[in-house]
Amino acid sequence: MSVRILGFATAVAMTAFAAHAAAPTRQPDLEKGKALYEECKACHSPTENVVGPRHCGVVGRHAGTVPDFHYSDVMKNSKIVWTDDKLQEFLTSPISYLSGTNMGFAGFFDANERADVIAYLHKVSEDPSCAALAPETMGAH
Ligand code: HEC
Repeated sequence: MSVRILGFATAVAMTAFAAHAAAPTRQPDLEKGKALYEECKACHSPTENVVGPRHCGVVGRHAGTVPDFHYSDVMKNSKIVWTDDKLQEFLTSPISYLSGTNMGFAGFFDANERADVIAYLHKVSEDPSCAALAPETMGAH
């Protein structure tokens, strides 16, 4: 029993360590971000709601606000604004950061990879296909 409790405490400590220890050590690389974004495309599209909500305009928006997407309650009620820093924290380990989220993605251990993907999320939102969407379909900013 005490071993199990120790195991849990260690896991919590390690999660906290992973979330805080890692910061990017170089400039973000857009090409790498684009390649890594292929993993997101299993569930996300910039312009469409699929398994996950559309990503056009995701940087700077209030979490859980894309219309016609069925979010988990924890995401909807999180009051997160998706700044670069919040995306860094979330993408380290989505399910530990937001317990109860429907986003079944393990996360990126490498802070540089997270920064690469975040840079790509900025880039995606500048695409003409995003500009063609009505602003209100991109969630609350
Ligand atoms: C296995 C499917 C899946 C994968 C892979 C995935 N996501 Fe998600 N994502 C989701 C789902 C589902 C949600 C909604 C979660 C909720 O409501 O709790 C979501 C939500 C999000 C949100 C919050 C958006 C909002 O409108 O509040 C961001 C940001 C996000 N994902 C980024 C990413 C990025 C970046 C990647 C790739 C590194 C990725 N996701 C990979 C399924 C996925």
